[in-house]
Amino acid sequence: MTASSARQRHYLMCRPTHFTVAYAINPWMDTTEPVDADRAIDQWQHLVDALKNLGHTVDTLEPEPGLPDMVYAANGAFSVGGVVFGAKFRYPQRAAEAADHEKWYRGAGWRFVAPTETNEGEGDFAYVPGPGLALAGYGFRTEPRAHAEAAEALARPVISLKLTDPRFYHLDTALTVLDDTTIAYYPEAFSPSSRAILRHLFPDAVLADEADALAFGLNLVSDNANVVINTEATAMADKLADRGYRPVAVDLSELKKGGGSVKCCIAELRS
Ligand code: ARG
Repeated sequence: MTASSARQRHYLMCRPTHFTVAYAINPWMDTTEPVDADRAIDQWQHLVDALKNLGHTVDTLEPEPGLPDMVYAANGAFSVGGVVFGAKFRYPQRAAEAADHEKWYRGAGWRFVAPTETNEGEGDFAYVPGPGLALAGYGFRTEPRAHAEAAEALARPVISLKLTDPRFYHLDTALTVLDDTTIAYYPEAFSPSSRAILRHLFPDAVLADEADALAFGLNLVSDNANVVINTEATAMADKLADRGYRPVAVDLSELKKGGGSVKCCIAELRS
């Protein structure tokens, strides 16, 4: 992969205007640790600027008071081939976000399929364009039944992968798609059988270790050439550079307090 093969992306994001850690629904969230709200907004704006500088299109959702996790826009839907499979959140604290996403997609003219099963959008679904398949996590948030529902809605095969480490509660904390055919993942976040499936499907994957995953080094977005990655994940950035990708580091230390980083803040729109 070279920088010349970068492909322009379309992203949906949500400014952390109302971001705070008001409840704890994953092991990263500590309601006693203060959050610097202005800093969170600055860091998020840098992420937006970095994506725009790479030539990508960024659309935004209107942030809503009382929905502090709305900044993690990845969780609101999963789109492939112009079809959007909506989210249905696991926890009541985030449930209302789904309707905001739905409204945005419908308003922008997307074909929207409302889910009946619990699923957290791109938090637990990743698309691999080469083979045209989706990888999907379950075990903490998304129900396996939603995987079948997504396959039906999107007309793509969906490979179910079992997440087993609560620190990596969403697929996008443990696995990422780097280009049309290459992924990176942290094997120990998955059950032994799911690890075997990933080894079989992606023998040339970039393997992350625990430190990489804990630094949110897998929670990145790639345009096939540039990988936008959390600044803390220096070892992961080196691994990716060795494989020919170009790391672009962004500091999202405040948003990490909610249990997310780069990828969590971004929903990719695949038309
Ligand atoms: N506090 C949010 C939650 O626990 C963080 C979501 C992170 N998003 C992601 N795509 N991993 O739901």
